[in-house]
Amino acid sequence: MGFTRRDFLTRVGQVGGYSAAFASMQVLGLMPMKGEQWKAIEAPPNSGKGTKVVVLGGGIGGLVSAYELRKLGYDVTVLEARSRPGGRVWTGRNGDKIEFADGTTQTIAWKDGNYQNIGAGRIPSIHWTILKYCRELNVQLEVEVNTTRSSLLQNDNANGGVPITQRRVEADTRGHISELLAKCVLQGALDQDLSPEDKNRMFAFLNSYGDLDRANKYVGGSHGLGRSGWKIPPAAGKQVGVVEPPLDMKTLLDANFWANLLFTEEFPQQATMMQCVGGNDRIPYAFAKSLGNVVQYSSPVTSFKRIAKGVSVTYTQGGKEKNIEAAYCIVALPFEILKKIPNDLSAPYQAAVNGSTPSGYYKIAWESRRFWEQDYNIYGGLSFLSQGPSPLWYPSANLMAPTGVFVAGYMEEQGTPFFDMTMEQKFAESRKSVEKLHPGHGAELTNPIYFSWRRMKWNEASWIHNWGGGRTGYNTLIEADGPYYFAGDTVSNINAWMEGAALSAKRVVQMISDKVKTASIATPTKSTFDS
Ligand code: PHE
Repeated sequence: MGFTRRDFLTRVGQVGGYSAAFASMQVLGLMPMKGEQWKAIEAPPNSGKGTKVVVLGGGIGGLVSAYELRKLGYDVTVLEARSRPGGRVWTGRNGDKIEFADGTTQTIAWKDGNYQNIGAGRIPSIHWTILKYCRELNVQLEVEVNTTRSSLLQNDNANGGVPITQRRVEADTRGHISELLAKCVLQGALDQDLSPEDKNRMFAFLNSYGDLDRANKYVGGSHGLGRSGWKIPPAAGKQVGVVEPPLDMKTLLDANFWANLLFTEEFPQQATMMQCVGGNDRIPYAFAKSLGNVVQYSSPVTSFKRIAKGVSVTYTQGGKEKNIEAAYCIVALPFEILKKIPNDLSAPYQAAVNGSTPSGYYKIAWESRRFWEQDYNIYGGLSFLSQGPSPLWYPSANLMAPTGVFVAGYMEEQGTPFFDMTMEQKFAESRKSVEKLHPGHGAELTNPIYFSWRRMKWNEASWIHNWGGGRTGYNTLIEADGPYYFAGDTVSNINAWMEGAALSAKRVVQMISDKVKTASIATPTKSTFDS
């Protein structure tokens, strides 16, 4: 009598509970491995009692660290420079002030209900950990439309610069490739690779994949499917649908649309993507609400150093210098900011941080009538240009509202002429992009805002480009440096996503828990806020 897989799983479930059975199913290959699963931190309840931890930075890395430490009974303080939680997970709304490090400020003047996710904009369905927190903290999610065939692709050097719908590029490209491949098969070029039966299956596949006709030619919508869109749409009465004629292969090759067409093929960009109802900063605000006065705002860190019982951190609050001591310190600061704070990290850590390089992605957002919905039937998704600010990223929320805020330009600007332009010039370039895709509508755009995390006070980078020493630097940073532990997307392999920050935070909480268990360190240190 065999011991079946079901017996085994039942047994595992009985001993280890649901999550053990779930994990075993994955290892056995009974469930698709879609991403790093949620894992609970393994530590006895209340094992953090009497241990003080100070967390530097109230972005997702810092907030998740504090949230998990608190669950285990640790005494936690988060020091956050800004008057709000979330770091780059921020949503701009009417009245919000954007402050650059050089003192430049912009104030958002958009209608109530219009907003823009300035940083984190989308959540992949495979990001189990951040989604688990959304569930736990009751943060409502909705679909973020990451792609639509109605959106546009444009290149000054192809099709006379006239934008083409994604559906047309997609259908025509597949049609032409299928026709070419069918020709190869017909001419016997693939006889070595395909048996006669396989050839027949291949023709059947190409016919449907590429929408070929009986003669294996792509003539565009030969099956009446209208894949590439209608030249004349079907309607009532005698009006039958006529499909757009195919774009020729040369135009498609010239246009080099592929990278943009294929970006949602990348695993983390695939449907279903999500966003928070009302703006993605609902996530940090939910953590912050649960943490209460654990998070100390307007409290920028000015220095930190080791002391006998752990660390001593100085910071300012309300114009006064203050000090806090703790057994452990989680450093969850942007590296560009950390570089400027006097500290006693050991040499390899200094090298990894100080040698790191920042990325400089910007976003420009405009408020306007929803012409993309009303005049183009584009609902969410992104349109791309091959020159100038790109993409246009249309809002997924509040479809059918009269006005909305959308992005026109979300790119790396360092090392490009765009970087040195004045803000007015940048807006002009962005407007030009809108005009190329939606002629006549550039004039409708109002209230632009230029968000540049590279310039933003308290960040000075959109995310990290490289660690000092590359992979070696990274491998240093993921280990503790005495009492210091590093968290944030910067110290994860899921850079520039909330998930990376959350996973790195959970990992350091596990590391601290393991340390506390074995070392039983630490007389509790009195926090300055207790006094
Ligand atoms: N997560 C961000 C985004 O989806 C930044 C990013 C872009 C990260 C592309 C990786 C790849 O826009």
